[in-house]
Amino acid sequence: MFAVYAARPNLDDPLASLVVGERPEPTVPQGWVRVKVSHASLNRHDLFTLRGITAQQGPISFPMILGTDGAGTLDDGTPIVLYPVMGTADWRDDETLDPGWHIFSERVPGTFADYVAVPRRNAIPLPAGISALDASVLGTAWLTAYRTLFTKTSLEPGETLLVQGASGGMSTALIQLGRAAGFEVWVTSRTAKGRELAERLGAHRTFDANERLPRTVQAVVDHIGPASWEHSMASVARGGTIVITGGTTGLNVTLPLLPMLSEQLTVRGSIMGTLQDMKNLLSFLVGTGIKPEIGQTLPMERAEEAFRAMWNGETHGKTVLTR
Ligand SMILES: NC(=O)c1ccc[n+]([C@@H]2O[C@H](COP(=O)([O-])OP(=O)(O)OC[C@H]3O[C@@H](n4cnc5c(N)ncnc54)[C@H](OP(=O)(O)O)[C@@H]3O)[C@@H](O)[C@H]2O)c1
Repeated sequence: MFAVYAARPNLDDPLASLVVGERPEPTVPQGWVRVKVSHASLNRHDLFTLRGITAQQGPISFPMILGTDGAGTLDDGTPIVLYPVMGTADWRDDETLDPGWHIFSERVPGTFADYVAVPRRNAIPLPAGISALDASVLGTAWLTAYRTLFTKTSLEPGETLLVQGASGGMSTALIQLGRAAGFEVWVTSRTAKGRELAERLGAHRTFDANERLPRTVQAVVDHIGPASWEHSMASVARGGTIVITGGTTGLNVTLPLLPMLSEQLTVRGSIMGTLQDMKNLLSFLVGTGIKPEIGQTLPMERAEEAFRAMWNGETHGKTVLTR
């Protein structure tokens, strides 16, 4: 079948390992279903996979079909959206705490293909009011943004959220969801275009990357890492929270202990979300009418263009690949 895959890990030149070609159809184990993919969206995770970087224990088995998000149809024609978190069969607690959890394109093939095999519970019937295009961006960046805002920041409506970065999938999700939740949404960006996008999506105030804020804020979400970390620490109010959801510019920062303890800061990590979070996100979108910001839709055959734009730091909301 048609598939976009990583041939081998390539830390410094990930696009050299990207193949638009053919892979065998996935086997469908007992209790799993086959999904015909119609839409799948790109995530930074796909670049990490090409580079051989994973949050999971154990290596990725290459060649690996890329893609962690998607929407499509079951063999009986039912339209579905994919929940990407899989794990131990009898695990009944928070899926993200399962020691065996993983997402597509780490241990099992991903969604940039004609077909993907998924555990039955991971194929959620598409609710009325959400298109397959919009649904295909929700499983990774949007799910994480939803859980981060509503479970990890402790923000109340009216309190201020600082989103580091504007242009990408995670940032645009945080802005759109944060605005709809009644938070005061402040956003930084490296570019004027990013600030304009944030304002169009509902940001109350925008700033240049690392610009000093007029006051501190109750919560910061930082997925950029070293390039924004000192600014995040300087921007959070006494008793406030920084939630780390990524490390686009690197994975090591310095944690100054004095402000941590004297300002009584909380620093938390957030990764993906539960199946219930995913269902809540779908209901939130139906209820609020939010349309996820999708900057580009391309046929899957043109995946390389989409990957190159992301590698060059030129994303605009989510990018969707279609079949
Ligand atoms: N924890 C999780 O479960 C989870 C889920 C999804 C994503 N993530 C992580 O979150 C991060 C963002 O993912 P994404 O899919 O939103 O990526 P993306 O679409 O490529 O967006 C990159 C974002 O980083 C900002 N940025 C700042 N400095 C940058 C630099 N030097 N190069 C590139 N971008 C820079 C950009 O903002 P401006 O252009 O406006 O400055 C943009 O908002 C990644 O590290 C990803 O792995 C984590």
